[in-house]
Amino acid sequence: NFNDKEDKSEIYEINKVSARYFRDNLYKNSFALEYLRKRNINAKTIRQFGLGFSLNSWDNLYRYLSQKGYSDNAIEKAGLIGKKSGNNGYYDKFRNRIIFPIIDTKSRVIGFGGRVLDDSHPKYLNSQDTIAFNKGNHLYGLNLLNKHSNRKRILLVEGYMDVISLYAKGINYSVASLGTALTDRQCKLIKRYGEEVYICYDSDLAGINAALRAIDLMLKVDVNPRIISLPKGMDPDDYINQKGLIEFEKQLNNSLNYMDFKINIIREKYDLEKLEEKVNFTKEIANLIKGLKSPIEQDVYIDKISDKTGISKEAIEKEIRGKFYKKK
Ligand code: CTP
Ligand code: MN
Ligand code: MN
Ligand code: MN
Ligand code: MN
Repeated sequence: NFNDKEDKSEIYEINKVSARYFRDNLYKNSFALEYLRKRNINAKTIRQFGLGFSLNSWDNLYRYLSQKGYSDNAIEKAGLIGKKSGNNGYYDKFRNRIIFPIIDTKSRVIGFGGRVLDDSHPKYLNSQDTIAFNKGNHLYGLNLLNKHSNRKRILLVEGYMDVISLYAKGINYSVASLGTALTDRQCKLIKRYGEEVYICYDSDLAGINAALRAIDLMLKVDVNPRIISLPKGMDPDDYINQKGLIEFEKQLNNSLNYMDFKINIIREKYDLEKLEEKVNFTKEIANLIKGLKSPIEQDVYIDKISDKTGISKEAIEKEIRGKFYKKK
């Protein structure tokens, strides 16, 4: 409705003014610039992503926006301030953080992410959902991808810093979900923006579990993703900064199709030298193969697992079809 539209455009305006303010703060605070420099982010990258800094103050942004004439109500609706308890006044949501504006494909600032400069918690803070911003409908980096990418490849990563470092080093087709678990709407966006989908999440337990979940969500929108497994403990930001573009591209070339990735993960749980574990491993893989729609794909993986375990193709096939001879 009309009012909603008015409210939205005011939120975009407040966000834009705030993003500029955060940017100006960054250039005035050498320690914040120094933090980014230590993370290998140069002036050009700061500009391209519109990075900023929110001051270590309870109401600096609030006072600035009020001075500019924006109402408490509008600033609150933009998600930038919260009511103090007792209902006396407002406080800034983003304080003492590096600011990552979240920009949509129409170049509107729809929200923000903020990172602390030390080890305090929470490490990241994200704008709450507002009438102008639904986190599950957007991807960080999509605005830049829209400009540059040939729409062949799209690379899904976990975080702001992953998208930024990859971009700075020459990979301009990565996107991140916005601090929430990947949604089906985000999967549809990914499908729309790239033909080949790669997933490169952090190489830790949380990242592996998130990747498994992302695979199943991508399959639901009929995309077969390929998976990049970085060395243990690393994320794309760490990797490209330590090893460089060429090595990262090797990782892309060595990516696994999602089935091989899943099989590898299951494989790590079992000791195939032990008969019982070999049986359980094969049963678990048989169950995975059961989920494949194509009989050809099924056949390929039956072959593979038979080779790996020495168990006959016939037995694995029967296990999958659930047809076996009962004793009379
Ligand atoms: N995230 C979040 N809230 C947190 C931690 C993480 O919303 N408390 C989101 C952020 O979008 C972050 C992403 O999850 O970018 C990935 O988290 P993590 O791997 O911890 O972030 P990195 O980008 O690797 O952080 P760092 O700056 O330490 O490299
Ligand atoms: Mn992580
Ligand atoms: Mn990470
Ligand atoms: Mn980290
Ligand atoms: Mn990181």
